[in-house]
Amino acid sequence: MRPFRIFPIIGPMLFTPAVIVLAMQVQTVWAGVYTDAQAMRGKAQFETHCSTCHRAGPRTGDAFMQNWSGTNLSSLFNQMKASMPADAPSSLEDEAYLDIAAYMLQVNAFPAGSSELKFDMLKNVRVERQGGPGPVPNFALVQVIGCLTQAPGNVWMLAKASEPVRTKNPEASKDDELKNLEKTGLGSQNFQLMNPYPAPDPHKGHKVEVKGFLIRDPKGDRLNVTSVQGLAPACGD
Ligand code: HEC
Repeated sequence: MRPFRIFPIIGPMLFTPAVIVLAMQVQTVWAGVYTDAQAMRGKAQFETHCSTCHRAGPRTGDAFMQNWSGTNLSSLFNQMKASMPADAPSSLEDEAYLDIAAYMLQVNAFPAGSSELKFDMLKNVRVERQGGPGPVPNFALVQVIGCLTQAPGNVWMLAKASEPVRTKNPEASKDDELKNLEKTGLGSQNFQLMNPYPAPDPHKGHKVEVKGFLIRDPKGDRLNVTSVQGLAPACGD
């Protein structure tokens, strides 16, 4: 009988760290990240503070995805808090903005789950269509890493570049965003860099992060650059 007695004590010790790791991983809006009760509160908040201008309710479908697919819920939360209600930005409690975000997920038919959407979770929940992220929309602001090279005619290129990842921040990554970036490997994409300013000469041949607006073009995709940041003084694999 002894092993059975020991198991209940050791069991939780073994499993707790795994649960913590899981909780910090990125998940998507399909994982059931809010509750119906929370969305109900959000609906009431929305009707009180938002409906005067947004009579048709929160955006749904393609309009919602064009804004947010490929971003984390922290983008939605931060932008909503910073700008809404338009006549009194940031005037609600964080809890109210969280509840409204839950309501937006509900009207967009993302499934409810058994625990509420919490502030700490926002940056780890990604908005995407069912069945995967799909390609980043044309003209979206993106973040890419690759090797900075120069082609004839003073044309800057990003070679061996990673898949573009959507971002809402045009400036060079720092803090958490920069840490996540360190895990991203080089890839096989190529981009022509438009209007890099200041000229990125000091980073030539280096591994860099580029942010910019993605312009898809059959002749070669381009990035209309908003920032270039050096990551390593070489660009191996
Ligand atoms: C006084 C009018 C007004 C109020 C009140 C208001 N909004 Fe807005 N909202 C606007 C306008 C105008 C835009 C479009 C602005 C733009 O796109 O730059 C907008 C855009 C938005 C957007 C981005 C576009 C979209 O529809 O997805 C979100 C999200 C949003 N509002 C949420 C809210 C929420 C949540 C509230 C209540 C807390 C709220 N708004 C209250 C006027 C208002």
